[in-house]
Amino acid sequence: MDTLDLVIINGICVTASDIAPYDVGIKGERIAILAPSGALADAKAARRIDAEGGYVMPGGIDCHVHLQEPSMFGKGSSADTYETGTRSAVAGGNTTIVSFAPQQSHVESVIEAIRTTHQLAKGNCYCDYGFHALVANPSPTALSEFQSLVETEGITSLKIYMTYAALQLRDDQILSVLLMARQNKILTMIHAENGDVLDWLTTELVARKLYAPKYHANSRPPILESEATNRAIALSSLINHTPILLVHVSDQEAAKRIRKAQSCGQPIFAETCPQYLFLTRNALDKFGFEGAKHVCSPPPRTIADQDRMWTGLHNGTFSLLSSDHCPFRFDDAITGKKSCVTEDFPVGRFSHIPNGLPGIETRLPLALSLNAAGKPKIALTKFVEVTSTNAAKLYGLYPRKGSMLPGISDADLVIWYPDGHIHGTKITNDILHHDVDYTPYEGHIVHNWPRYTILRGKVVWDRDNGGIVGEKGFGMFLRREVSSMPGVWDTVEISSDFDVEQL
Ligand SMILES: *[C@@H]1O[C@H](CO)[C@@H](O)[C@H](O)[C@H]1NC(C)=O
Ligand SMILES: *[C@@H]1O[C@H](CO)[C@@H](O)[C@H](O)[C@H]1NC(C)=O
Repeated sequence: MDTLDLVIINGICVTASDIAPYDVGIKGERIAILAPSGALADAKAARRIDAEGGYVMPGGIDCHVHLQEPSMFGKGSSADTYETGTRSAVAGGNTTIVSFAPQQSHVESVIEAIRTTHQLAKGNCYCDYGFHALVANPSPTALSEFQSLVETEGITSLKIYMTYAALQLRDDQILSVLLMARQNKILTMIHAENGDVLDWLTTELVARKLYAPKYHANSRPPILESEATNRAIALSSLINHTPILLVHVSDQEAAKRIRKAQSCGQPIFAETCPQYLFLTRNALDKFGFEGAKHVCSPPPRTIADQDRMWTGLHNGTFSLLSSDHCPFRFDDAITGKKSCVTEDFPVGRFSHIPNGLPGIETRLPLALSLNAAGKPKIALTKFVEVTSTNAAKLYGLYPRKGSMLPGISDADLVIWYPDGHIHGTKITNDILHHDVDYTPYEGHIVHNWPRYTILRGKVVWDRDNGGIVGEKGFGMFLRREVSSMPGVWDTVEISSDFDVEQL
């Protein structure tokens, strides 16, 4: 055997389907071999890592990340750049992110947004990256560009919003997007909240001078989400069952509706996020402006909803656990959460709080945390499935990413500490690497943490020896294929044109 570049010994490999004690041999940027534990103990290698019995998994793939987007909520602008966001990502065990290339609603083209976003990311990333096209104006120009999104740009997913004045699409616009997305095999991600109901409720609250952060939750009750989810599914059905993916689901009724559609064989996919597994709306109800730290949309809900989100992860309703990393600094009156606090509004105004939470780095450790009985809340194989493998399949990166197939998969790995090594570590902001002055998970206890992150064969995170050891700019743009997730395009009859006469 040729000399290997890196071997990992004494690890327990975990993929979406298996757990087994294998040594891993890496040559160049790829996984070269998996061999029974001990088989590579004496292999010639430039570098050797002893995992000491810790888990070795495909690197995390976080496909819901907002970085360096123009402001949408008055003055706020997101705190992380491509540089700081991807640095934080590798410290959290991620090797790939897919962020958004936001089209502004006054702009005709979507390709223009792709170009702009490339400029921001190029040469600045610590992990590999791709973009979803964020479509805010489905103009004839934009729709005509969908084909080149896939064929020229390597972008096979897009996102649309059913809320937010600057982004909200009307139902007719959603139908146009779905039809064109279907013809080009682009997976459509949908933020499902009813924007008109939100605006109306906001007006009612403001008329009563109810401004505190906790009213954010009153302005977005669960029905906003379940109604929009139901409508999104109905619109998808109308366009010959075009595949859609509901992002950041928080509400149990919405989850139930998604489950029902899936049970009927409809191509409906869904994602949830740590904030809906670990936070409740009580987190918004703090003295003064403190609750703004937990303002995100949809808002965190109840314990019962949390339980349903866990159930949905276990039973496959949710294919993805993403971070929806959308960070704003807290104590920052210009671009942060406090930009809505003024003399007239000492507790801010809930409707003007920049919406979003930092979460990149904490997604994996949180998900691996233990229940009251000391058992993992989620099976390890399921964990890999929802934080890596399914993301790679849904977004056209599999099996290069999200797997450990020798000769095929990139050597993108996260190595954890051996069980018991980290006992109940409290999350505090000063142990994190993002460019944000707080974490919504301050004080939460975790029981493991990524020890090494390896990207295309290079160690980029070594927690005990230097922390971030990767180089800015090593992360590369990933051109993506169309989704290979079973049930997305394989069951869809693309050639049949949409035929109004058949309705
Ligand atoms: C699966 O999870 C969803 C979401 O929580 C839930 O609505 C559904 O009842 C669950 N199905 C089963 C069979 O438990
Ligand atoms: C990266 O991985 C961690 C753990 O999976 C997760 O918390 C985080 O949100 C991910 N995303 C980014 C962008 O870091």
